[in-house]
Amino acid sequence: KPVVLSGCQPSGQLTLGNYMGALKQWVSMQDDHDCLYMLVDLHAITVRQDPKKLFDACLDGLALYLACGIDPQKSTLFVQSHVPEHAQLSWVLNCYTQMGELNRMTQFKDKSAKNENNINVGLYSYPVLQAADILAYQADKVPVGEDQKQHLELTRDIATRVNNLYGDVFKLPDPYIPEFGARIMSLQEPNKKMSKSDTNPNNFIGLLEEPKKIAKKIKRAVTDSDEQANIYFNPTEKAGVSNLLTLLSLATGKSIDSLVPEYEDKMYGHLKGDVADAVVALIEPIQQRYTDLRNNRDYLNQVMREGADKASRRAAVTLKNVYEAIGFIPKP
Ligand code: TYM
Repeated sequence: KPVVLSGCQPSGQLTLGNYMGALKQWVSMQDDHDCLYMLVDLHAITVRQDPKKLFDACLDGLALYLACGIDPQKSTLFVQSHVPEHAQLSWVLNCYTQMGELNRMTQFKDKSAKNENNINVGLYSYPVLQAADILAYQADKVPVGEDQKQHLELTRDIATRVNNLYGDVFKLPDPYIPEFGARIMSLQEPNKKMSKSDTNPNNFIGLLEEPKKIAKKIKRAVTDSDEQANIYFNPTEKAGVSNLLTLLSLATGKSIDSLVPEYEDKMYGHLKGDVADAVVALIEPIQQRYTDLRNNRDYLNQVMREGADKASRRAAVTLKNVYEAIGFIPKP
C-alpha cells in the first residue's frame, strides 16, 4: 500500500479549514493506504506557545483526529515529539538545505512579518523539519491544503539533492491536494485563508466551538455588496459567496453545480442559513464522539504510546540508512 503521512499543528483549536483541507482526506485514505498521522508539536513551538495550552491542544487534537474518524487500528497516530527520529533527521537535512531556499518560503515570510519580535531559527528551518517528517517514512503521498504546496516542493528538492549525492536514499513524495476545499477562506476577510491562529475569532470556525456560535459566525460571514445578491461560484469576483458555496458543497456532498440553481431567486441570508445548518450537522456528531474520547485519557495514552512505537521503528530504518550513506560510524 502507498504510504501516506500528514499532520496538523496543535497551535490552537483545529478549524473547519483543517478539516476540509486535510482531515477529511486523511479519513478517506485509510483503507487503501498505509497512513501515518501526527500532531506536530515540534513545529508548533516555532511560535511562542503557552505550555498549558499546548499540552491541552495536543490532547484535544488527538481526540479530534479520532472523533473525525481516524482509526488507530488502520492508521498510525502519534505525537511528533514522541518520535525522536524527526528531530534527528531534521538536523541532517538542515545541512543539505540552502538558506536561499528557506528565504523563499512564503509561510516563513508571513509568519516572521506577524511575529517580528520572535523570528527564531526554528521558524526559519520549519520546512526542513517538515521534510524530515515526510522523508522519514518514505511517504508516497502527503494530503495537505493548498498552503503547504511550497513546503512539499522543497521536500522534493532536498530529497533529490540527497539522492543525487548518495544514491536512492529517499522516495520522492507527491502532494495530495484536494481539488476542492484545499483553501477554505476566512469568514470576515474572504480573501485570506481561514487560520486557527487568526487574532479575530470571527474569521475561523473551531471544530470544538458550540454549534450555536458556529451558526452565528456563518450567518455573519462577509459576502459582498452586489445589489442583486447574485449567488454563483467565482472565487475572484465573489470570494465570500464562493467560500460559503464551497463549505455547503463539502458539508452536504452535493456539487456546486447542483447547488447554485437552488439559490437562483434567494438572498444571501438563505445561503448562510443553509451553510450554518450543514456545517453544524457535520460537526455535531464529531463533537459528541470527541467528548467521550477526550475524557478517556487511558485510551488516548494507549493510542499515543502504540502510535509512537510503531512510527519510531519505521523512522529508525530510514535514519540508519541516511547515517550510513553520509558516512557516520554505526554505534558498535
Ligand atoms: P497546519 O497545522 O497549518 O494545517 C494542517 C492542515 O490543514 C490545512 N489547512 C487548510 N486547508 C484548507 N483551508 C484552510 N484554510 C486550511 N488551513 C490549514 C493545511 O494545509 C494542512 O494540511 N506545516 C503543516 C504541518 C506539518 C505537515 C508535516 C503536514 C508538519 N509536518 C508533514 C504534512 C506533512 C502545517 O502548518 O499545518
